Amino acid sequence: MSTQTRRAPRTTRETWSGRKVFILAAIGSAVGLGNIWRFPYVAYENGGGAFIFPYLVALLTAGIPLLFLDYAVGHKYRGSAPLAFRRLNRKAEGLGWWQVGICFVIGLYYAVIIAWAAMYTFFSITKAWGDDPETFLFGEFLKVSDSEGLTFEFVPQVLIPLVLVWLVVLVILALGVQKGVGRANVIFLPLLMVMFLVLVIQSLFLNGAAEGLNALFTPDWSKLGDPAIWAAAYGQIFFSLSVGFGIMVTYSSYLKRKTDLPGSGFVVGFSNSGFEILAGIGVFAALGFMAAQAGTPVGEVASSGIGLAFVGFPTIISQAPLGALLGVLFFGSLVFAGITSLISIIEVIIAAIQDKLGVSRVKATLGVGVPMAVLSVLLFSTTSGLSLLDVADNFVNQFGILLVAFVTIIALTTAFNALPKLRRHLNRHASVKLGVWWQVVVGGVSAVALGYILIGTVTSTLKDGYGDYPAWFIGVFGWGMAGALIVVSLILSMIPWSSKSADAESADIEEVIEAEEAQDAAESTEEVKA
Ligand code: ALA
Repeated sequence: MSTQTRRAPRTTRETWSGRKVFILAAIGSAVGLGNIWRFPYVAYENGGGAFIFPYLVALLTAGIPLLFLDYAVGHKYRGSAPLAFRRLNRKAEGLGWWQVGICFVIGLYYAVIIAWAAMYTFFSITKAWGDDPETFLFGEFLKVSDSEGLTFEFVPQVLIPLVLVWLVVLVILALGVQKGVGRANVIFLPLLMVMFLVLVIQSLFLNGAAEGLNALFTPDWSKLGDPAIWAAAYGQIFFSLSVGFGIMVTYSSYLKRKTDLPGSGFVVGFSNSGFEILAGIGVFAALGFMAAQAGTPVGEVASSGIGLAFVGFPTIISQAPLGALLGVLFFGSLVFAGITSLISIIEVIIAAIQDKLGVSRVKATLGVGVPMAVLSVLLFSTTSGLSLLDVADNFVNQFGILLVAFVTIIALTTAFNALPKLRRHLNRHASVKLGVWWQVVVGGVSAVALGYILIGTVTSTLKDGYGDYPAWFIGVFGWGMAGALIVVSLILSMIPWSSKSADAESADIEEVIEAEEAQDAAESTEEVKA
């Protein structure tokens, strides 16, 4: 292959200014509501200290190896999820759209939780919930309706902050990859780290903190035999690391050619888990205080789901010394962590539309952001928003993220036989090379683990249902939504790419890829000879 074909592709694709900004943005995406709000109660419900074991196994056997896989696809094929998969193999485009669809659903409700947290940051100052945070949350604040189905009765104190969250996120996204997303992460992430560290230190000084930590870290080993614990660990790792649903493919597509991919992956993976465990410590120290005040065991005050953040924390804030500060730090951290993650979720959709239609960033941001903001308001700022959020969150995680990750791994390993070339790509951009073990872990260990978990969760959800919702509600917004994502992604992958689309550059990029692959082939022949 002549050196002429190895020139950089003629591409107008935006890039990060450097690897540091990429790493910050990737950590900003990973560290989100999943770390602060979801991890502590998932860990607690699933064996406490014993959960750390399946959690670390999931991190090492799926999280980090699949993070490398996402980096390899995005960086090698330099496109949004649908374009990168299309360049890998034309038949794979649908996988990318499926991931875009998942981001679409998550984005709609993720923004709502940030809006609640923003309101609670202010409520913390006056302790607006009075003596009864639970009645305040469900009754006064969310005005949860008793009737089944969608109500379309709007709740202004959710609607207004929700519109503001969308405005902030869309302005940042419209500014572009480096000027908007990169800069926002450079500012928000250090701020979040400082706020959160102060919060954890403050929590550790509360009376009863040690009991809280004992509750979190005392292992209940008997739970390790339960497949549900393993499903929870893998589910948590995927959501929390932002792997498998297009985010890391998109973010790594903006990296310059020369970079260290696995090195960045290790930094991102371990930073995210470090932050997550720190969040567990902070939250459980505070719960220990709450239990000590109530004179009950920690197990009785540790609620799950939104109850932990929006009922448990207000109770603690009302009782703790410097409670208002604790509240502003906790809910403020949720807002900052949430915004940087929401940006990455919406970026997946914007990048895909920009690539497919060949439109400018501002047009793509408006075209994606405005309809999404409207839908998010219509569905989630109403008196029925909470039930919908709960069902959408559960189904898009279990039968969206985990399922698409499983199908992607199987397709890349078998039909497209892509793992060897992706490993070679990673190694060309690595300070420490990945051995064949990486292919075995991705194509074997994580595929088997995911398959096993999926069979378990599908069976148990079909048998026991989910929550107390009517069957039609679960059918439409749970199973129906998860199934519709697959159908829509197939349809979108059949729509032809216009001549203005980024795919029109493919001929150029394909030359570079071909040159790289020829070099790979030569290198592997040399390896065999040696
Ligand atoms: N990774 C993001 C989170 O943890 C989505 O919330």
